[in-house]
Amino acid sequence: MKNGLEDVIAAETLLSDVDGEAGRLIIRGISLDELASTATYESVATLLLDGLMERPVTETELRQQLGFMRTQLFAHVRSLDADLLALPPVDALRALIARLADGEDFDAALRLLAAPAVFLPAILRLQAGREPTEPDATLSQSADILRMLTGRRPSAEQTSALDAYLVTISDHGLNASTFASRVIASTRAGLTSSVLAAISALKGPLHGGAPGPVLDMLDAIGSGENARDWLTQALDRGERLMGFGHRIYRVRDPRADALKQALRPLVSAGQVDRKRIALAESVEQAAVAILRERKPDRPLDVNVEFYTALLLDALGFPRESFTGVFAIGRTIGWIAHAREQALEGRLIRPRSVYVGPLPRAA
Ligand code: ACO
Repeated sequence: MKNGLEDVIAAETLLSDVDGEAGRLIIRGISLDELASTATYESVATLLLDGLMERPVTETELRQQLGFMRTQLFAHVRSLDADLLALPPVDALRALIARLADGEDFDAALRLLAAPAVFLPAILRLQAGREPTEPDATLSQSADILRMLTGRRPSAEQTSALDAYLVTISDHGLNASTFASRVIASTRAGLTSSVLAAISALKGPLHGGAPGPVLDMLDAIGSGENARDWLTQALDRGERLMGFGHRIYRVRDPRADALKQALRPLVSAGQVDRKRIALAESVEQAAVAILRERKPDRPLDVNVEFYTALLLDALGFPRESFTGVFAIGRTIGWIAHAREQALEGRLIRPRSVYVGPLPRAA
């Protein structure tokens, strides 16, 4: 038995490939380096959906329809009551998405792509005691998310940075949440059910729940010269360093570099706290060195969540919302995998080995 299904192949996919030895990610035949610096959210979504829906969709059409769908979904925000708003943002998001109809078609996919983009900014504003901002169907999904979050039209650098983030995390092989999405899809339950299962898997601290704690760690360390001592003590307490390590990568996660790159225009435009970036670089260096000393046989390097924390913080997302923003970006990957599974896969039904007691002989 493979604990954690490590190295087990459980699907054939046309969507993405993660090469853990080379530190390379390919999405539909295009390398992440190229995609992250050129693609928009809508272009990567079109790419991922290609051939998987009942009819072809162009990028222009997707952008228009997503804009329209955002305006349609805004009415759901009114049903956010005090109980839902008391939940962590990702849980409130999941609860609101659970109210959407299930389905397998393009309309269902469109609803699920637009829903977190509208719901998460509204949840965050209501939790902060502010009125939600209505969507603007004429904007791109990234620009509108930032506008709905802050109430102001974002700069071109901010919109590009969010696009780079959403593209970078759009799909990543058979990670835990994507596998959850495929398992549900294999029962033909519908895309909403797949996405709900995937969000539930994503929110755990070993998967998409890590970037908030990354910022907590940076705050607790405070300055570069404290990094080594702080990290040593955390490891001595048996803690894991958030934003480091990966099941597949044995080298740096290429998504960390893509996000570091995406931060640069924000730094040049003076839209990021440079001290925080310098601190993060010192912490990264110290952590990689200490992990190498402690685990010489298990390469543990920086992962996507480390630079996610810096980027989303720079864009004005509160740290408790980072997992929800991850869900906005990964929903396209979950949907594409769910469609691939439903179109070609069988019911996913592995076996377990029973190691419990046997009935007593009569
Ligand atoms: N800090 C300290 N030690 C670590 C870390 C870490 N971040 N990651 C792994 N290790 C250690 C483990 O303690 C274990 O040591 P042991 O053999 O002495 O028990 C060894 O490295 C192997 O760890 P596993 O748990 O087998 O590795 P696995 O592949 O299951 O874990 C994971 C991958 C969950 C990402 C892990 O590296 C981790 O917990 N990282 C911190 C959380 C994090 O950053 N998550 C985001 C991942 S990226 C994403 O999902 C989008």
